[in-house]
Amino acid sequence: MGTLVKLSIITLAILLAGLWSSATAGQWHVGESLRCQDCHLQHATQDGEQVPGGPYSTMLLEASVNELCLSCHDGTDPTAPDVQSPVTMYSAGSTGESAAGFFGQVGVDNPHGHGLGFGAVTPLQNQGLFVQLNCAACHAVHGNGNYRNLLIDPAGVGDSLAVVEGVHVFTEFSPANPPTVAGSVAAYDRDNVGYKEGMSTWCASCHDMLAANEQSSTTAHFNGHPSDVALDAYSPYNHTAPGHWTAGLGEGFDLADGGVARVPFDSPGATDYVSSRAAGLSDEVQCLSCHKAHGGAHAGGMLWPYREGGAEYLAGCQQCHNK
Ligand code: HEC
Ligand code: HEC
Ligand code: HEC
Ligand code: HEC
Ligand code: HEC
Ligand code: HEC
Repeated sequence: MGTLVKLSIITLAILLAGLWSSATAGQWHVGESLRCQDCHLQHATQDGEQVPGGPYSTMLLEASVNELCLSCHDGTDPTAPDVQSPVTMYSAGSTGESAAGFFGQVGVDNPHGHGLGFGAVTPLQNQGLFVQLNCAACHAVHGNGNYRNLLIDPAGVGDSLAVVEGVHVFTEFSPANPPTVAGSVAAYDRDNVGYKEGMSTWCASCHDMLAANEQSSTTAHFNGHPSDVALDAYSPYNHTAPGHWTAGLGEGFDLADGGVARVPFDSPGATDYVSSRAAGLSDEVQCLSCHKAHGGAHAGGMLWPYREGGAEYLAGCQQCHNK
């Protein structure tokens, strides 16, 4: 079996080199930055020592995908973006968090977003599949052409979803190569990302009940909040306040008075990072306007304490609606 694994590793290495040699600068775990030894043993030993409890399946350095990825992404490797609570590396930034946010402990229900290694029925999904999420449920472990190596078919239903950096998503700072602490903080900070389109469609591959927007339908998503709909879609603006959104002042925005940082949005006409971040009347609400992709500080993975209550409980809603 050892020889077989080694042979297939060599075959895959050749395959991967051919497939992703043209990968964009600033992507990690792909092409030349896919360093097999980050995740796999080169033999059944590491540095001549037997790995405690190992060797593991496909010669991974850890017993499970979550443990493997978190062995660097839990804050112990200061150059690897930390995705497990508590996260401190972004504290100097204006929002203090990364774009995706963070998980809790593996194997424990996470009321603040996605849980890892914890069996649950997929909510807002027609099939209602019972799954245990791990990093590989959303990220291609050997990299691909998508932003953050997001899977092209996370639900395993034959989708081919493109979320490409420079096309659907824009960033200002690329991470350093080789990785540095300051480079990773700048690259993965929430403020370094601007969106044009594609994220809601990607999320709705698993949460497919939200794939179509039926106004005030009973999909139970608090009576069907639309995604990928522009603030100025309907005139007169009975529901939204596009001018309030572009001005960015007062209700929902005033940090000293129950406001939060401007929530992420899709900028349909964006061509680069600057245009993707400039607020406009036809900006669109998307999943990440309200939810952190991994999870965060608030119930339901929300960007503000919507369910907890308090002064900020309607902050995000008010930015777009100002009721
Ligand atoms: C040996 C440490 C290490 C391990 C193990 C590791 N990573 Fe990483 N990862 C890093 C570092 C360091 C970076 C940031 C590199 C950079 O951008 O300069 C990174 C970046 C990433 C990124 C952002 C990539 C991009 O192009 O935007 C993703 C997504 C990611 N890792 C997922 C994973 C997943 C999933 C696993 C497990 C299958 C994993 N990592 C295992 C160190 C590691
Ligand atoms: C960021 C971590 C990471 C890196 C780097 C990495 N792998 Fe993997 N690899 C994995 C994980 C995780 C699995 C198991 C996938 C699963 O169980 O879902 C895997 C599985 C495999 C397999 C089994 C077949 C398959 O695709 O499932 C082969 C072969 C393999 N890797 C080869 C390589 C080679 C060659 C390299 C270097 C070019 C490499 N890997 C780099 C994480 C990594
Ligand atoms: C691979 C399938 C998959 C993808 C892709 C996916 N989810 Fe989920 N999601 C799940 C599963 C399974 C659960 C239930 C288990 C859990 O909460 O961890 C869930 C739960 C949730 C919850 C409820 C969390 C809570 O604490 O109540 C929210 C909100 C959510 N997802 C939003 C999103 C958003 C936003 C995206 C896109 C960034 C997304 N999901 C992408 C599978 C997925
Ligand atoms: C439910 C899907 C999902 C799961 C599960 C998931 N990710 Fe992510 N991850 C995303 C999405 C979507 C983004 C991009 C969010 C954005 O930039 O707006 C992301 C971004 C990242 C980033 C960039 C840094 C950041 O915080 O923004 C890293 C690193 C990363 N993921 C690593 C991991 C690791 C390691 C695991 C497992 C411990 C994991 N992810 C599990 C969906 C997921
Ligand atoms: C305008 C804000 C907003 C937008 C946009 C939004 N959500 Fe939600 N979502 C919420 C709120 C608020 C809840 C909590 C509802 C409750 O528990 O009362 C929620 C709950 C959820 C849940 C958990 C449902 C359950 O039954 O546990 C999932 C899954 C989810 N959202 C996924 C998504 C996805 C995927 C998208 C994009 C297609 C999206 N949401 C867009 C605000 C939003
Ligand atoms: C990023 C902007 C944005 C945020 C944040 C936002 N909304 Fe909306 N909302 C919209 C847009 C755009 C529409 C659709 C256009 C319209 O109905 O005029 C909409 C529509 C609605 C509707 C009418 C839905 C229907 O089917 O008729 C309600 C109710 C609503 N939002 C409530 C909320 C609540 C509650 C929150 C906070 C949890 C919230 N919104 C957060 C932009 C946003």
